[in-house]
Amino acid sequence: MKNFRNFVIIAHIDHGKSTLADRLLEITGTIEKRKMRAQVLDSMELERERGITIKMTPVRMLYTLHATCYTLNLIDTPGHIDFSYEVSRALRAVEGAVLLVDATQGVQAQTITVLHAAQAAGLTIIPVVNKVDSQLARVPETKKEIALLLGCGEGEILEVSGKTGQGVPELLEAVIKKVPTPKEEMQKTNGFRALIFDFKYSSHAGVVVYCRAFDGMVAKGARLKFSAAGKEFTVIEVGTFSPEETPADSLSAGEIGYIVTGVKEPGVASVGDTVTEEKNPLSALPGYARPSPVVWASFFPESGDEFDALRHALGRLRLSDSAFTAEEESSGALGRGFRCGFLGMLHLEIISERLRREFKINLVVTHPSIAYEVLTKRGKKMTAYTIMQFPEHGDVEEVREQWVAAELISPPEYVAQVMLLLGKHEAEVGETENIGNRLVVRFGAPLRELMRGFFDELKSVSSGFASLSYRLLPELRKADVVKMEILVADNPVPAFGRVVSCRSVEEEAETAVEKLSKILPRQQFELKIQARMNGRIVASRRLTAMRKDVTGYLYGGDRTRKMKLWKQQKEGKKRLAERGRVEIPAEAFVKMLQ
Ligand code: GTP
Repeated sequence: MKNFRNFVIIAHIDHGKSTLADRLLEITGTIEKRKMRAQVLDSMELERERGITIKMTPVRMLYTLHATCYTLNLIDTPGHIDFSYEVSRALRAVEGAVLLVDATQGVQAQTITVLHAAQAAGLTIIPVVNKVDSQLARVPETKKEIALLLGCGEGEILEVSGKTGQGVPELLEAVIKKVPTPKEEMQKTNGFRALIFDFKYSSHAGVVVYCRAFDGMVAKGARLKFSAAGKEFTVIEVGTFSPEETPADSLSAGEIGYIVTGVKEPGVASVGDTVTEEKNPLSALPGYARPSPVVWASFFPESGDEFDALRHALGRLRLSDSAFTAEEESSGALGRGFRCGFLGMLHLEIISERLRREFKINLVVTHPSIAYEVLTKRGKKMTAYTIMQFPEHGDVEEVREQWVAAELISPPEYVAQVMLLLGKHEAEVGETENIGNRLVVRFGAPLRELMRGFFDELKSVSSGFASLSYRLLPELRKADVVKMEILVADNPVPAFGRVVSCRSVEEEAETAVEKLSKILPRQQFELKIQARMNGRIVASRRLTAMRKDVTGYLYGGDRTRKMKLWKQQKEGKKRLAERGRVEIPAEAFVKMLQ
């Protein structure tokens, strides 16, 4: 076991984790150079298309240093804040972390957050400046920032390029020298025990758990059980990742690998649970705290017949992503659907996109919202997750909402713009601090404001240089918010409604109707698009009617014939407008979400 090393790569989004992982796979010969494609560990179609890592991926590499062969288990983790939950799981399965900082960007907010999480998990940190090949690289400044952050000497920081491979052999050597081998005492016990950090489902093999073995050894045929679920099973196969699943004779303490369980019931496997022996089980390992969803949206199938397909699809997705929640609900206008909770807006977008792509389900997605605690005039306390549940203005006594404690890092030249943005989003700015030549700003803000395009606006006012990280605060605060409905042809469309800050209701209303007027197709009649608040119309647009030349086929002749046709057309349009039923295409819901 002396020659095992388990480590993760952690970094702010886009600092080059997946690209560096590619070089590691190449240099260790895990994947032949000719079979290499960029970001090989990002196997999901969406990950490759968008260049982001959504799920963490474990891989096992063999590397010979000074005539000794080492087994290196690497877990590549996502960088986006929505998926920090995935990172926290990976940290429990390893002993070391390569902290990667992009030399063109310097230390970013998420760098600090993941570093703190890795330090809290007691991991050995290997600091690395990445992208040193880039013309924009500011290597000395970045090293200074990292040294300040870690309290280490600049000489300890490695210089690497995931693109060219420069410095990668030195990084592998540092991993071998600095990351501790899995602890000896873990292997001396008799029984087998492993922590589940992820799992997947396959229709023929059932649940396959991805785990880190902490004690003993397991092989095919062994009888194991899930500690929390109490469910027993016979091991069908064990193996490791290279990077695809590769069967092995056994899986021993200190190793990272998979176990094929054959369990086909849903809800048995859970991330953070322990698998141990059926007879003489060891106590469960400390699991993971469940992440709480921060944003909610309802999913309805576009066609009512697809409700069961949607239920099935959500169940399947939950087998590989246990971080989102889904509860059945029904709405008068939209029929039966699911109220789903997500870790952030990107998480929501990814799940809805996966439903569309992998399960071919056309969805109506309601405008995302955070959960509000509402005290009604009749003294009832309730939680409104969606606009449909939010009571009418007259019934609301008080609304309370969640706040976040956030930290952002910005170059000094953008600070004035950033402060204006914070003011606009109702933030309460706290202390500031310098890190190298950049400023760290700490602030509190309503979660709702962060979910309202804050990230995009921050990127835009700082030309992409400012970064943000946040955590939820436990106590709720009084919220000055109001329900805004969107009406199309005088009918409220629940999916477009939302709860907005009283301070920005006009702006929100204008933006919403303007956006919708660009998205909705024109109709045979003039279409009214309005925003309503407390029974009052606060913004309005009119989409002119489509013009169809109903008289085109007439040659000359009597003008009264034309007039008759025009009159008929006008009446038809009036009837259509009165009926007011406007087919809203599924893409409109998607576009409104973006
Ligand atoms: P997430 O997993 O989404 O957080 O991204 P990541 O950290 O895995 O970053 P990724 O490897 O996808 O790289 C982000 C961008 O940086 C891509 O456009 C890469 O081509 C580029 N990049 C990565 N490494 C290097 C490097 O060493 N040098 C240069 N010049 N560019 C790099």
